[in-house]
Amino acid sequence: MFDVQEIRSQFSILNETVNGKPLVYLDNAATSQKPNSVLEIWKKYYQEINANVHRGIHTLSQLATEEMELSRRKIQKFINAKHDFEVIFTRGTTEGINLIAYILTAKLKKDDEIIISYLEHHSNIVPWQMLCERTGAKLRVIPMDENGVLQLDFLDQFLSEKTKVVSVNQVSNALGVVNPIEEIISKTRAQSDAYIVIDGAQSVPHFTVDVQKMDCDFFVFSGHKMYAPMGTGILYGKQEILEALPPFHGGGEMIAVCSFEKTTYAGLPFKYEAGTPNVGGNIALGAATDFILNIGQQNIQNHENALLEYAQRKLLELDGLKVYAEKAHRTGVVSFNLEGVGISSDVGMILDKMGVAVRTGHHCTQPIMEFFNIAGTVRASFAVYNTFEEIDLLVEGVKKAQRMLA
Ligand code: ALA
Repeated sequence: MFDVQEIRSQFSILNETVNGKPLVYLDNAATSQKPNSVLEIWKKYYQEINANVHRGIHTLSQLATEEMELSRRKIQKFINAKHDFEVIFTRGTTEGINLIAYILTAKLKKDDEIIISYLEHHSNIVPWQMLCERTGAKLRVIPMDENGVLQLDFLDQFLSEKTKVVSVNQVSNALGVVNPIEEIISKTRAQSDAYIVIDGAQSVPHFTVDVQKMDCDFFVFSGHKMYAPMGTGILYGKQEILEALPPFHGGGEMIAVCSFEKTTYAGLPFKYEAGTPNVGGNIALGAATDFILNIGQQNIQNHENALLEYAQRKLLELDGLKVYAEKAHRTGVVSFNLEGVGISSDVGMILDKMGVAVRTGHHCTQPIMEFFNIAGTVRASFAVYNTFEEIDLLVEGVKKAQRMLA
């Protein structure tokens, strides 16, 4: 039985007031709030275990290692990876994509091609541009239509033996559009040997992901958008691919034998985990998967879809309000502007005075803003603890902004 009030009671921060008003937190695509169970596990690690992993034979070090490796197995299960060593702890999606772009350097040469889409976050654009600078490869961008739907006939045209990487997000952070990943992957597999990278930062908080079924080569996401602490994230890569590619950072943990003459590298996952990891955060990320699975991913999806549908309907009842990608299949996000209000942050500031937290601006997706010829949008984004009453407060705030600004 899905009980949103019971879920809310697990988040202390939701009892806070902001500017004298109860907090209405609708900036979940930027970062989600953390349930007490996740925070307690994190705190318990520092209060009772704190020790470095994989290094000591002392009891606390072994306990820390066991807890972190248990968390790795939870995440393996969460995304249905074949092996736990295919799950690499990172600092987040941005680090994951940069890591992949770096380790693929030797695989690309001048005039090879990397395909991304118009809907990407800057973190799935810039690392590939940097790879192009290093190798002389070229970037090709799948266009989208007015509804934020990718035009996949262009993918068919772009794919060739020159294509070395196809990297797209599963869900757009700025618009909430859910991309047809299965179709993108099957088209890519049919027409090239490219590495397929999926940015799952905005999908794993909202619905079930199965990396084996998806058949991507890499899948990256952040912990902090799925109820875990900031500075946590995951890079999934297929065993044979990760084994064949070079390491990213050099340092402790990632070596088999180190000498001045020659260093050999550790096996997976340690080859990609140089330095002391964020042990407490990584353990808490495992607890966040427990939180999600205890509620049930289908329950989360149903609730959030109902919130999105309600928010869009209520907002569109207002005159002069445009929702971007209004007709696209979306999850978790409604991105909009008010006619005659050029600056989305003015709306955001009025909402903030009412305790309503949204993100405004370009959302690290300037090409999307350029497409629509706008500087930014107001973005309300949802999590499992949001309510219909909160959306009513958002709509009240938007009406107030309309009166004050239009
Ligand atoms: N990528 C995050 C967002 O969309 C920060 O807000």
